[in-house]
Amino acid sequence: MHIPTLISRKRDGGELSADEIRHLIDGYVRGEVADYQMSAWAMAVFFRGMNPVETAALTQAMRESGDRFEHPAGLPVVDKHSTGGIGDKVSLPLAPLLACAGTRVPMVSGRGLGITGGTLDKLESMPGFRTGLTLDEAQRQLATLGVVMMGQTDRFCPADRKLYALRDVTGTVPSIPLITASIMSKKLAESLDRLVLDVKFGSGAFMKTEADARILADAMIAVGAEMNVEVKALLNPMAEPLGRAVGNALEVIESLACLEGGGPSDLRDLVLDLAEAIAPISREELAQLLDNGSARAKFDDLVAAQGGDPATLPRLAEIHLAPIIREVPAPDTGTVVGLDAGFIGQAALQLGAGRTRAEDGVDFAVGFDQLVKTGERLHQGDPVCRIHARHPSDFDMAEALVLQALRIAP
Ligand code: URA
Repeated sequence: MHIPTLISRKRDGGELSADEIRHLIDGYVRGEVADYQMSAWAMAVFFRGMNPVETAALTQAMRESGDRFEHPAGLPVVDKHSTGGIGDKVSLPLAPLLACAGTRVPMVSGRGLGITGGTLDKLESMPGFRTGLTLDEAQRQLATLGVVMMGQTDRFCPADRKLYALRDVTGTVPSIPLITASIMSKKLAESLDRLVLDVKFGSGAFMKTEADARILADAMIAVGAEMNVEVKALLNPMAEPLGRAVGNALEVIESLACLEGGGPSDLRDLVLDLAEAIAPISREELAQLLDNGSARAKFDDLVAAQGGDPATLPRLAEIHLAPIIREVPAPDTGTVVGLDAGFIGQAALQLGAGRTRAEDGVDFAVGFDQLVKTGERLHQGDPVCRIHARHPSDFDMAEALVLQALRIAP
């Protein structure tokens, strides 16, 4: 098959057959389809979309690009996936919590995507933590610990590994078929019994409206149903950042607070909402597992099993200390009526918490903490947040975006 013809057909609004989609994906994984051809095709899909049959074929081809988990009979195998948001660190407390709740959790996540943060980047801010496990290592850990948190590899969802990194830097993320195939190919390769999707909408999400989030949720539920996975979707607003911290190490620190029964209430509530949707125990019992230290102990075990040292976690703020940590003073007195997550995500990306080129690393130290929340009162000069920056010019850029994001009513 002639790859430029497949790209042009999609550019002109035509359909691709399942064989053609598989040829494109397999060729891309083998390195026979170039990054520039795949970028052009992804942009064509962004503008022209895919019908449900094409979306299912893309998901299947991506899922079959690599290996697949095999689980022994017994505990239900569950996971959650978010469509991406600002300050969305839910996976870090949720995965160990679910493992304490009588389920197995083979969680395969991604890196930062567009303005949204990624679980893998956050996990790797813990010194030594390995996200690139082999399937054998992952399956062994799952058998002993009940939870593994890892990324796509050359053997596990390699198609998503490559396409995800390419979409991140080519403006091709917010596409319903591409998001559906990216998420569901990973989740189907996990061989789950139950999946809960956290489908975000708002300025800090890829779907700007609730109606579009519903369409995305339905597309993912349809793919799951076709492949016999029970999928639930919760639609959640992403108008302001989740919690009070945005940035890799800063979000791990906030996750630890949640795992110890504290942390911001919006984070805890969302962790419990999502856990409740797939766990075999009640919300009250799940809350107890956060409050009595069980989930935190499981997180420590997970960190140790994947090469990290739990003893370093209380020192994460010192390990990743940005040279500039300064407050942003409130320009007026009043009640916070909004802190636009899109601007905060943009600022975090430009501070270095995300990537502008696929080969870039991320800066674990930079971002925001102590962010104000909607409904809180501020006096002029009170801190709106703290910015953690590498250079004075980065601080100025982030401060300007925070002030653009903030809405105060007298
Ligand atoms: N999460 C994913 O894994 N893929 C996407 O495309 C968006 C969010």
